[in-house]
Amino acid sequence: MRARQASYLTSATAPAGFPPPGPPEIAFAGRSNVGKSSLINTLVGFPGLARTSSTPGRTRLLNWFRVVPPTAVPGMPPELAFVDLPGYGFAKVPREMRAAWRPLVEAFVEKRATLALVVVIVDLRRGPEKEEEELLAWLEHAGRPALVVLTKADKLPKSKRIPAAAWARKALGLRRDPLLFSADTGDGVDDLWRQIAVAVQSAERARSR
Ligand code: GTP
Ligand code: MG
Repeated sequence: MRARQASYLTSATAPAGFPPPGPPEIAFAGRSNVGKSSLINTLVGFPGLARTSSTPGRTRLLNWFRVVPPTAVPGMPPELAFVDLPGYGFAKVPREMRAAWRPLVEAFVEKRATLALVVVIVDLRRGPEKEEEELLAWLEHAGRPALVVLTKADKLPKSKRIPAAAWARKALGLRRDPLLFSADTGDGVDDLWRQIAVAVQSAERARSR
């Protein structure tokens, strides 16, 4: 599955630059260099959409993409916005810069009415660490639904993937195994689309209550 359409919408360096609330938003969060932008590109099926780089800390703004999702998924809304969040937890990024991201990401996660789901991306080989635990705890505190995705699955032999996912589940206290994904092979793409549709539906239900 892939998106029917996807295009860059806008970037923001301050909350005043956030676009007016529109379709349900899916945000992608995770450590620098974990593969957030690559995951977005593979999921939508447009390789150059979000900028990727082997230099950590590449995405320094909040970047919005307008996405027309695949029709084959039950309950999928006609339109979504994907938000590529800047990476965290990378020491080489100057401290001042990290300090600038924080209020920006906080304003978005805590106040954005149209935010339906935060996809928390973790490197399967590395597994979750303190930062991921803190991120999930914060999202829970903010009342934001989160979905953990383990990416770069292609870099681990098949026999080790399920045990690594089970370990991550335990470490993060999740109710079920996180989703396995690879931007290189496309593993996990269809599952992720389905999970996004489910999350958007429950966010809409919560909002109309
Ligand atoms: P920042 O924006 O800097 O925080 O990084 P990011 O999380 O957006 O990571 P990005 O998508 O730019 O990918 C970082 C590096 O990991 C790139 O060299 C990608 O090619 C590589 N990469 C990303 N996903 C995968 C994957 O699933 N498998 C493999 N083998 N490499 C990946
Ligand atoms: Mg990026």
